[in-house]
Amino acid sequence: MSKSNQQFPINNPQSPIKTVGIIGAGTMGSGIAQVAATAGCSVKLFDVQQPALDKAATKLEKILNRLIEKGRIDADEKNRIQENIQYVNSLKELANADLTIEAIIENLDVKKKVFQELESYVSDTAIIASNTSSLSIASIAASLEKPERCIGIHFFNPAPLMKLVEVIPAVQTSQDVLDMCVAEITRWKKVVAVAKDTPGFIVNRVARPFYGEALRIYEEGIADFATIDWAMKSIGGFRMGPFELMDFIGNDINYTVTETVFNAFYQDPRYKPSFTQQRHSQAGYLGRKSGRGYYHYTDENAENAFAKSRKGASRPEGERSDKANSNTDEVVETQIFERILVMLINEAADALFWNVASAEDIDNAMTKGVNYPKGLLAWADEKGIDWCVSQLDALYDEYHEDRYRCSPLLRRMSREGNIFFN
Ligand code: NAI
Repeated sequence: MSKSNQQFPINNPQSPIKTVGIIGAGTMGSGIAQVAATAGCSVKLFDVQQPALDKAATKLEKILNRLIEKGRIDADEKNRIQENIQYVNSLKELANADLTIEAIIENLDVKKKVFQELESYVSDTAIIASNTSSLSIASIAASLEKPERCIGIHFFNPAPLMKLVEVIPAVQTSQDVLDMCVAEITRWKKVVAVAKDTPGFIVNRVARPFYGEALRIYEEGIADFATIDWAMKSIGGFRMGPFELMDFIGNDINYTVTETVFNAFYQDPRYKPSFTQQRHSQAGYLGRKSGRGYYHYTDENAENAFAKSRKGASRPEGERSDKANSNTDEVVETQIFERILVMLINEAADALFWNVASAEDIDNAMTKGVNYPKGLLAWADEKGIDWCVSQLDALYDEYHEDRYRCSPLLRRMSREGNIFFN
């Protein structure tokens, strides 16, 4: 019988997934393997590069030793986790995996080929998932004979530490596969947010203004990098300012994500990339990893750069405007924070408006996935929906750009006197 003629759903949605295949032993694959092995799954970690497998095994040994030192696990637990992972150099070895999560390079053609080969080995009921950040799950699923078995399972880096996992059903994905994955990833002690298969899913979409509006404020000459970072941390309570965070992520990577989301949304001006970031990226000012980004990372200041206040000494020389040089008006700093915040709230509200995810999942995604101090929709309730609408309308009046259009949901809620959470 041809595979496509058989019924998909999983026979017993209650049954735990026992064997997990991971494709790609790089940053994400090795972390996901650790998470699944810790949860008691038998893991088969596959990579085409033997050195990647060796590195993954060495890295895990170090991480587990550190966890022993901290008293989080004992030697028996370490052995158990290590014994749960088999490092394999043939995709065929994943034949008995109940669930396989792919974490290889972000290239649709390569992923499709790997998925097709994998499908020829695994059972009819096996689930095949991708950890992709930017490709549509529908396009990956379309490579399979049984696209209903395909789903997005998107971890955050570092996978063992970040609580959030976005689970993304494609239009083809069966309800059983979605339910099974949500149950399993929850069992792995992660916070699951179910997201629609739309560009950026939840986090990479809703977080765009954190970077984009900060860059725009800088480009308009309102404040320098350090002042904007200071405002977001000291007034907003964010752990890192936008420029510190872009330097941490890497300007090349952050720029590419922005460009991908912008193009995927048919050039919606809300997601427009910034020349400042493009130029920094082109100049090789990639951030921490290259020693210079928006800030300099010399040996002396790299470690404590983020701990300083706006009056600290770690800002790059020559990159502070006089205007922002320690006597920038508190009013301006509050305006900077509020402008970025209201743009984030607008994005979160719009994601809800377009049914990308539930209000709870949108707020959980931002607090658990990128450590925001509060959920954005809860923050909107706190600030007042009317306040959000009037701030956005004021920005729109100022610039007359579609970028500042208020989400219809916020406007409707303001009219009807509703809030997000009662
Ligand atoms: P990486 O470059 O660290 O690791 C990729 C690994 O895949 C390498 O070890 C490579 O040898 C292996 N590989 C390449 N082609 C292969 C093939 N055909 N078969 C088996 N192994 C193959 O990449 P990283 O950062 O782990 O990213 C992997 C995926 O996870 C990408 O889709 C990325 O978009 C996504 N992702 C990455 C995040 C990050 O912060 N790095 C966060 C969330 C998702």
